[in-house]
Amino acid sequence: MLITNLLVNIDHVATLRNARRELFPDPLRAAKECLAGGAKGIVFHLREDRRHITDSDVFNFKQELDTKLDFELSTADEIVAICCKISPQLATLVPERREEVTTEGGLDAIKSADRLKIVIPRLLDAGIPEVALFLDPDLDQIDEAARLGATTIELHTGDYANASSESEARAILNRFAAAATRAHANGLAVHAGHGLDYANYSAFGKSVPHLSEVSIGFAIVARSIFVGMRSAVAEMNHLVTTSTYERS
Ligand code: PXP
Repeated sequence: MLITNLLVNIDHVATLRNARRELFPDPLRAAKECLAGGAKGIVFHLREDRRHITDSDVFNFKQELDTKLDFELSTADEIVAICCKISPQLATLVPERREEVTTEGGLDAIKSADRLKIVIPRLLDAGIPEVALFLDPDLDQIDEAARLGATTIELHTGDYANASSESEARAILNRFAAAATRAHANGLAVHAGHGLDYANYSAFGKSVPHLSEVSIGFAIVARSIFVGMRSAVAEMNHLVTTSTYERS
């Protein structure tokens, strides 16, 4: 049985710090608390506008954390160069628009193929072992990710998280299960994230096969206000490690 690893996205710790132009709360300290709570790695998104995580945060993570780092990035040259320098264990390519509040959809790997054909080999050649594309659960997009040489896809779970009824969520989960099956058949590792939380995770984890990793941020950081970061991560880690795929 495949046990899914929980990686924690700490962007929102930096969002809080930057809201007051302060030096605290420190995302590095938060990351260490996440690891103490059982996280198997740390995720951050160095956005082109640096609205939360900054370059110095990224260099601190690389220097101070002995864990898997998932560096989320756009295909902009400047950010790709920083990612190559950091050489994390995982680089996840995401779409980025300045006016969005958060990443709003998956990449269009088919439309962006010309750019991805340059960026994916550049990241792999820098010694980054895993390069993921953040995609909606669309079979053509998944086939394209394999053609482009990505090692991994991260399924954008926003549609599932935003489902307005249980029956809608169930139908959406079938799409995710089919997408994960297709990715696995293409030799791609399967990750997922966006909007996963303490209430919706269990059904997701039980319905989607081949899920080796999930990236969860907002729900954990929000809960940490009430129970502390270690406990918030430990609670989610319990859900993630116990809600594993059940064949129906
Ligand atoms: N994965 C990716 C690629 C993301 O862009 C985000 C949002 O920052 C997440 C996972 C985590 O989403 P959330 O903060 O809603 O858990």
